[in-house]
Amino acid sequence: MKPIISPSILSANFANLEDDILMLNQSEAGLIHVDVMDGQFVPNISFGFPVIAAVKNFAAKPLDVHLMIVEPDRYLKEFKEVGANIITVHYEACTHLHRTVQSIKELGCKAGVALNPHTPVMLLKDILAELDMVLIMTVNPGFGGQTFIEHSYQKVRELKTMANELNPDLWIEVDGGVSAHNSLALLKAGANVLVAGNAIFGSPDPLHTIAELRNISPD
Ligand code: DX5
Ligand code: ZN
Repeated sequence: MKPIISPSILSANFANLEDDILMLNQSEAGLIHVDVMDGQFVPNISFGFPVIAAVKNFAAKPLDVHLMIVEPDRYLKEFKEVGANIITVHYEACTHLHRTVQSIKELGCKAGVALNPHTPVMLLKDILAELDMVLIMTVNPGFGGQTFIEHSYQKVRELKTMANELNPDLWIEVDGGVSAHNSLALLKAGANVLVAGNAIFGSPDPLHTIAELRNISPD
């Protein structure tokens, strides 16, 4: 199976997002990754509802919304309303994660849970069957263009083993420092959704880079 590519628009040109979204529409990307940062959960602020709504206006691919915010329950409905198709919340930001996941699904969105690099995948055991996706952070969240953390391969393998037993349809997304250099190993470890920001938007030929990632085969 080919991987699903989810380009992160955090590295796009914010002064001309329309062009970048139209480029993604023409590409082999399966999703558009939208990083929301609140300056509290992570030491950075990205963008909010008006920007996502504007992206949605042009996007021909589903929006894969990654919430790096505290108390995400307060805003789930708004994210759905501005066009989120997948909503991913952080394990570390949710006291009542089961309730949050149910709320996302009741809105009609796919539900994802993200794990910071220090959070063991084992902690998802009792909720794994409820999830559509798990996002393994392969850098500390907050910024694009950081260096991939090597321990991530082990986490993806552990998650894949758990998913084989508890939720074989689970999507496993990796996010942070992902490029053509580490994608094959990530896919072999069990990931099937690749987020890439800098590798795509920093490339002289983003369409080619997306196609290259899409055509890496784990078999
Ligand atoms: C980091 C974000 C990522 C980021 C990835 O906190 O969640 O989605 O944009 O960017 P790269 O691929 O440049 O590491
Ligand atoms: Zn992200």
